[in-house]
Amino acid sequence: MLDTASIRRQFPIFSRKIGGRPLIYLDSAATSQKPLAVLDRMRKFYEEDNANVHRGMHELAERSTAAYEGARTAVHEFLNTRYPEEIIFTGNCTEAVNLVARSWGRAHLREGDAVVLSALEHHSNVVPWLQLKEELGVEVKWIDCDDHGRLRIDMLDAFLREGNVKLVSVTAQSNVLGVRPPLGDIIATAHAHRALALVDAAQSVSHHPTDVQALDCDFLAFSGHKLYGPSGIGVLYGKREHLESMPPFLGGGMMIREVYRDRFTPADIPQKFEAGTPPIAEAAGLAAAIRWLGQFSWENVENYERALLRSAWEALSSVNGLTVLGPGSSSPRLCSGLSDGMDSDVSGCLSFVVTGVHPHDLTEILGCRGICLRAGHHCAQPLHRQLGVTASTRLSVGIYNTVEEIKLAGQAIADAAGALRP
Ligand SMILES: Cc1ncc(COP(=O)(O)O)c(C=O)c1O
Repeated sequence: MLDTASIRRQFPIFSRKIGGRPLIYLDSAATSQKPLAVLDRMRKFYEEDNANVHRGMHELAERSTAAYEGARTAVHEFLNTRYPEEIIFTGNCTEAVNLVARSWGRAHLREGDAVVLSALEHHSNVVPWLQLKEELGVEVKWIDCDDHGRLRIDMLDAFLREGNVKLVSVTAQSNVLGVRPPLGDIIATAHAHRALALVDAAQSVSHHPTDVQALDCDFLAFSGHKLYGPSGIGVLYGKREHLESMPPFLGGGMMIREVYRDRFTPADIPQKFEAGTPPIAEAAGLAAAIRWLGQFSWENVENYERALLRSAWEALSSVNGLTVLGPGSSSPRLCSGLSDGMDSDVSGCLSFVVTGVHPHDLTEILGCRGICLRAGHHCAQPLHRQLGVTASTRLSVGIYNTVEEIKLAGQAIADAAGALRP
């Protein structure tokens, strides 16, 4: 069992009032709030250890290097990678995917090769591949999903049989529907056809354990700020042999072995991909977040968040004119007779539309009551198009949320929707 009261006390932001009301933060899919353990660690770093890494012989340089490389070890253990050097620190998940597209993609893809994406993808795992399409003539193929967000795995099989697919790049968890594609099957199928697999784990890392060796993915990307850690740091995991086969992404200090007037030789991994001064305090903060989250069992986290989402689904599905998108749908159009309850594979968030109500109007009213939800396309326009809507409202949870908050939000959504509906 999670002691939510004690967890909440560790988040200073929850003592804040908005418009005189307690903050109800249901926007963790956009970014999570930060516990004191992370805030304290970053403050301590700047107060006691601050220096640049890898460059100095003085005590502060040694301490900051130890903090930075210690964070690499923490992420290596968190993801169960084979080697710590397989962890590259980036600015965020988006940069990590771009690193693969620009470095691995440019080195290994040619005109006519194909990259397969799913209809569930965030733009961060779409645009870098569309840029390669423009630059190299790489084909981008899409696995559709049904109205429940289930991927048409038969389409992946058909694409792979065509023989030109070099990479399958999919999300571990949709940032709109919360659905979790069958990653193990997708990766094994890709490998059976000699394609690599990239996992966008931005949404899943804070909700479920991630074991890259068990998954056998070739690359995996996430951001620190959705994992109770700071913004400004992201992670790219890559299998050693792939990272070693890839040219540097950015050039500059730290990523070289030697530089001459007319040439340079790159450093080994991971430094080869970490040009310039890295996010040092952020790495220390990310390691603190991983340690902090590690005090809870994944089973407790999963059960608790599932109960939160279930109460959200119950509260929302009774609101007049409201349709929960994807597996949580109760609408005849989206449900198509397959299931009328919450799918067991939904995690982290639910998105919904209310007939006649624009999501921005709804979230503005809720925002005035201190209730934070997100409205828009959530950087997933292809998915919204497939679902036949331009925008939705998203409710997302973290382990600091409570069922009481969800009920208050549900009531507020019902009131606001009632007031806004024509
Ligand atoms: C599934 C998914 N992938 C990638 C990203 C991009 O993360 P960032 O903006 O931290 O790079 C997000 C952010 O919302 C996301 O939800």
